[in-house]
Amino acid sequence: MNFFRLVILSFTVFPCTLFAQHASIDKKVDSLLSLMTLEEKVGQLNQLSSDFAVTGPITKDGDKQDRVRQGKIGSYLNVTGAARTRSLQEIAMQSRLRIPLLFAQDVIHGYRTIFPIPLAEAASWDLSAMEQTARIAAVEAAASGIHWTFAPMVDIARDPRWGRVMEGAGEDSYLGSSIAAARVKGFQGKGIGNIDAVMACAKHFAAYGAAEGGRDYNSVDMSVRKLYEVYLPPFKAAKEAGVASFMNSFNDLNGIPATGSSFLQRKLLKGDWNFNGIVVSDWGSVGEMVNHGFATDLKDAALKAMAAGSDMDMESRAYVAHLADLVKEKKIDILLINDAVKRVLYKKFELGLFEDPYRFSDEKREQAVWNNPAHVQVAREMARKSIVLLKNEKLPALNQAVLPLSSSANKKIALIGPLVKAIGENNGFWSYAWPDDSSRVVSLWQGVINKLGNASSLIYAKGCEITGADTSGFAAARKTAALADILIVSVGELATMSGEAKSRSQLQLPGVQEQLVKEMVATGKPVVVLISAGRPLVFNWIADHVPAIVYTWWLGTQAGNAIADVLFGDYNPSGKLPITFPRSEGQIPIYYNYLSTGRPFKSDTDNTYVTAYKDLPNSPRYVFGHGLSYTTFQYGALQVNTSTISKDQPLQVSITVTNTGNTAGDEVVQLYLQDVVSSIVRPVRELKAFEKISLKPGQSKVVHFTLEPSAFSYYNDSLALIAEPGLFHIYIGGDSQATQKASVTLL
Ligand code: NOJ
Repeated sequence: MNFFRLVILSFTVFPCTLFAQHASIDKKVDSLLSLMTLEEKVGQLNQLSSDFAVTGPITKDGDKQDRVRQGKIGSYLNVTGAARTRSLQEIAMQSRLRIPLLFAQDVIHGYRTIFPIPLAEAASWDLSAMEQTARIAAVEAAASGIHWTFAPMVDIARDPRWGRVMEGAGEDSYLGSSIAAARVKGFQGKGIGNIDAVMACAKHFAAYGAAEGGRDYNSVDMSVRKLYEVYLPPFKAAKEAGVASFMNSFNDLNGIPATGSSFLQRKLLKGDWNFNGIVVSDWGSVGEMVNHGFATDLKDAALKAMAAGSDMDMESRAYVAHLADLVKEKKIDILLINDAVKRVLYKKFELGLFEDPYRFSDEKREQAVWNNPAHVQVAREMARKSIVLLKNEKLPALNQAVLPLSSSANKKIALIGPLVKAIGENNGFWSYAWPDDSSRVVSLWQGVINKLGNASSLIYAKGCEITGADTSGFAAARKTAALADILIVSVGELATMSGEAKSRSQLQLPGVQEQLVKEMVATGKPVVVLISAGRPLVFNWIADHVPAIVYTWWLGTQAGNAIADVLFGDYNPSGKLPITFPRSEGQIPIYYNYLSTGRPFKSDTDNTYVTAYKDLPNSPRYVFGHGLSYTTFQYGALQVNTSTISKDQPLQVSITVTNTGNTAGDEVVQLYLQDVVSSIVRPVRELKAFEKISLKPGQSKVVHFTLEPSAFSYYNDSLALIAEPGLFHIYIGGDSQATQKASVTLL
């Protein structure tokens, strides 16, 4: 142990109250900082990628190890595995001050066990389930030496052309905020410093979800009021849940790149919100300010990013190249550097890395959590909850709805389509491909076999690829279909079609898949279509002609088992769309909580001189909150405890929900509020509360909601959060078109 380490460790005897803990870490940080050279400080703000999994231009490992030894790298991304992180940490321990490295990784929807993509999980509306999958992801990642995940992505996304919709919680601020908090809690568990917790990162700060035209890396122009009202709440919720870090974003916001925005980072985040964790840049976003024409060169970019409050530079190498000179030239105040370095060191202390730099890189623990069957079971449960039953019509020939299928009916089932036997596609974008995936990831084919016990009643034809124009497999698909009693057609996107840099201008099923579905419908057999994708797709013909449609997103390791559970009724689907499904790309951006206009749209058939298209209905294909069940739910009259409330008084709302079918089921009861007249034009309605309930056949439950005064308030033109007197309508139901209504007047 060298001298510097002794200085640091001598502060570990403080009492363990939270305050004392913070004070104690602050002292250690100050003590260490006082020993650091300017170059060593700058090194802490430099984050580089290894070549394990990259999402941008990169140089090879090369001399990076020497730079670790010289204290010029504070953090790595894309180095995983207990052994690998340990060996790099050993090199960090050869540096003068022995400051440990921080290992970061995009653990977005699982690490070893892959859970449904975040948008799919959001369809469960089940906050504790989402917290649990984030928890498991953290347990698995932490055991592989990862300290920091770049998740959750909390960007509100109202444009399904944007490939990154798959990574967030959809279009709604209230749902998005609730999920943001749940995921932060899941990743950070009992708190940073626990051996199974990773630091979470709320990204991309801010408004990246509004990138113009749905194109990744594009500009955002929006009123600050809208920013506050729609795009910031999930970030605020993450902050309030104790998120350890924020990532800024590639976009400019109203002309200022987020990475160079003092308004976003210094005023709002570190000022108004008093956030004291790390702000990391996005990949190369410091250097990209040169491309934006906002900085003259890399040095100017470093100056502007640091001045604006970006603490750590991911992969631009701008800080490590220029910050020290900028300080020496008195262009940057050393206090700004000190503040950024302290934020980084604080987290390293909090993680316990100074006491034991290898505490997360534990091969034994890694092995122990690697194939934990409990994690796999949770993956299956989460996948079932994420599935959305979009349509399930009664077929006259069957005299019943197509789904669920009976596993004992001795019928021939044809599984048709390019995704039936897919393995990797189930994991979706932002996931890790493990060498044994072919035996671990459950395909649809395997899932149905697992359900039926054997493959004797199953037949299969691929029909076509996901992409391409080849229809030569249709004939075999038709032949297979002719032998079957029911056709299950599995179509969708490749896992690489939604995600970062995966914007699409056309949202139809790729290739000839829709044609394949048409061929199958033409056989006259009952057809179920399963759609596996990372975003809402446009599939009008299918929606009009296929009696049963199940949206299966990308469901992860247990996809096939979960889909089979739903198909055969072992799980009654309960997912509800967290994002509106358009009829056409021409309707985008499309979302349920649009503002009231002067010429409101009337109906899809009466649309003259109102806000409408001449060639397209206004209504979406499937509304926000939509999702069917194998049972039916009836909503009683909506009750409010008073017809007038004062500004500081909560409102009690209740409704009776009854399961009127023959199957037990879960329902997401959704409450929407409309501010009828206000000094700013308000949305036609906004989600303000929801609860997921379970009901047995015939059972009723009274669902109670408390609307706190904050539910009635909004940001006015001066960005003050106010509630104005006047009339409010409340709607409750099973989707955003809820019709049960009551009104209340705010005095
Ligand atoms: C760029 C992405 O925008 C960001 O979300 C991700 O965390 C980084 N690359 C690191 O991979």
